[in-house]
Amino acid sequence: MADGDAILDRATFRTMVESTAEDWQAIARAAAPHRGELPDRLLAHLRLLDNDHGGFAVDRLEHSLQTATRAHRDGRDEEYVVCALLHDIGDILLPANHAELAAAILKPYVSEANHWTLEHHGVFQGYYFFHHIGLDRDMREQFRGHPHFEYCAQFCHLYDQNSFDPDYESMPLEAFEPMLRRVTAAPKLSIYKVD
Ligand SMILES: [Fe+2]
Ligand SMILES: [Fe+2]
Repeated sequence: MADGDAILDRATFRTMVESTAEDWQAIARAAAPHRGELPDRLLAHLRLLDNDHGGFAVDRLEHSLQTATRAHRDGRDEEYVVCALLHDIGDILLPANHAELAAAILKPYVSEANHWTLEHHGVFQGYYFFHHIGLDRDMREQFRGHPHFEYCAQFCHLYDQNSFDPDYESMPLEAFEPMLRRVTAAPKLSIYKVD
């Protein structure tokens, strides 16, 4: 910036074609205080699942907490536990393909195996009930041989399909908050990241 140039409060462009570096610096400054709000938004959205039982014996928040608690008590690392906590966050925003929402939200922050598991857990979870609703419980077989097949199957078997127990003592949402904040603190992967 040349001497005497004002620091912009806001960008002045009407079209991106005419935008300048100064415009984008103003936008970056305005966005900075909001960095770190993602976990708050995710927690707020998880709370929307409270009391939404959808016909199951436990509501969707309890199912999420139970899945994450089982993973945590089984010694899984923080990233895995956070994936477990958020795995069904798409239930109400993306009911036709809920697994893809958590996968997209967490992709920048988690391993490829965890991302793949989030994205495919809907099909793998079907092994436990698709035959009761006229679907093929072996739908997951299309992925047999994939490097993350067993990892995903294990998630569903150990933590997801069994987390509908009203008598299970789950950890509260607050207990997972610090983990969620750490895991989502900085994206490892983003098209907006400068090398
Ligand atoms: Fe799910
Ligand atoms: Fe689930």
